[in-house]
Amino acid sequence: MLILSLVIVLFALVAAFWFFRPLRRGQVRITLTDGRSIRAPVGSNLFQVLRDAGVDLPSTCGGQGSCAQCRCRILRGAERITEQERPYFSPEELRSGVRLACRVTVQRDLLIEVPDPTDRSDKGRS
Ligand code: FES
Repeated sequence: MLILSLVIVLFALVAAFWFFRPLRRGQVRITLTDGRSIRAPVGSNLFQVLRDAGVDLPSTCGGQGSCAQCRCRILRGAERITEQERPYFSPEELRSGVRLACRVTVQRDLLIEVPDPTDRSDKGRS
């Protein structure tokens, strides 16, 4: 009887884990100021999410965090800026929410502005 009870409890735990797995993982919505909206898993890389959705930010390092060209502006939902990013920005850019997309891990819903692809300058180069 004890073994049967343990098997039932174990089965219930496995079933509960399986049932709630998608809820634990979670999804967020990334909204662009031009009206586009993208769903992405929590913990994903913003640069990769945008690229997968067809929003190509400039990059010569392929998302490795060294070219400083993948700039976007996070208007709502940003996590704290990393120390690796900070040297790339002026105080004004920091205040306005400019970030390197490849250094942003998506944690919650975001509202972001990406540069107009027809108006790209080489701001990331110094
Ligand atoms: S893609 Fe080069 S720094 Fe982000």
